Amino acid sequence: MMRNIAILASGTGTNAENIIRYFSNDNRAKVNLVLSNRSQAMVLERAAALGVDAFFFDRSQFYDTGEVLMMLQRRESDLIVLAGFLWLVPAAVIEAFRGRIINIHPALLPRFGGKGMYGDRVHRAVLDAGCSESGITIHYVNEQYDSGDIIFQARCPVLPDDDVQSLAARVHELEYRHYPEVISRMMDQIGSRH
Ligand code: GRF
Repeated sequence: MMRNIAILASGTGTNAENIIRYFSNDNRAKVNLVLSNRSQAMVLERAAALGVDAFFFDRSQFYDTGEVLMMLQRRESDLIVLAGFLWLVPAAVIEAFRGRIINIHPALLPRFGGKGMYGDRVHRAVLDAGCSESGITIHYVNEQYDSGDIIFQARCPVLPDDDVQSLAARVHELEYRHYPEVISRMMDQIGSRH
């Protein structure tokens, strides 16, 4: 049975594109929906260019009317993948998909996470803390930022001459290598929708 992956993203969408491509010729799972809370987010263009239905939604549709939840259910999403999504997920969506919503954070949680810690701010904080390593954390999503149970972590060195850009590039490489594989392994574990 084909499993359906939905991606929520707010920004550039390089992880979303990587995941779409990874599953594009997989007969077990595919990305059949990309949703963004920013109408100009490049992720929407990337998804459309790859033939994946992509929609913008606003706060009301996410937190008040339930339209986003209804779309996820109508599309029969088996797994919701956050990839650079910057809003808290409403409780109604968490409840409906508990254990089937995951996120990737570009640092080794529990450090360097939480509200406002995203993108280059994370790498800046890691450099300012003088860490000798950084990495990625893939975790279940709950009602708080970056605090669900950890599923997977991968590490990379922080080099003495690193700046935000060089560290970000090294962490992105870990994201691209591991996020699709973690999703694929989860697909094998996820029971059917019913
Ligand atoms: C990535 O660094 C990811 O770890 C974080 O947001 C960023 C998304 O980048 N959650 P992109 O939009 O996939 O390029």
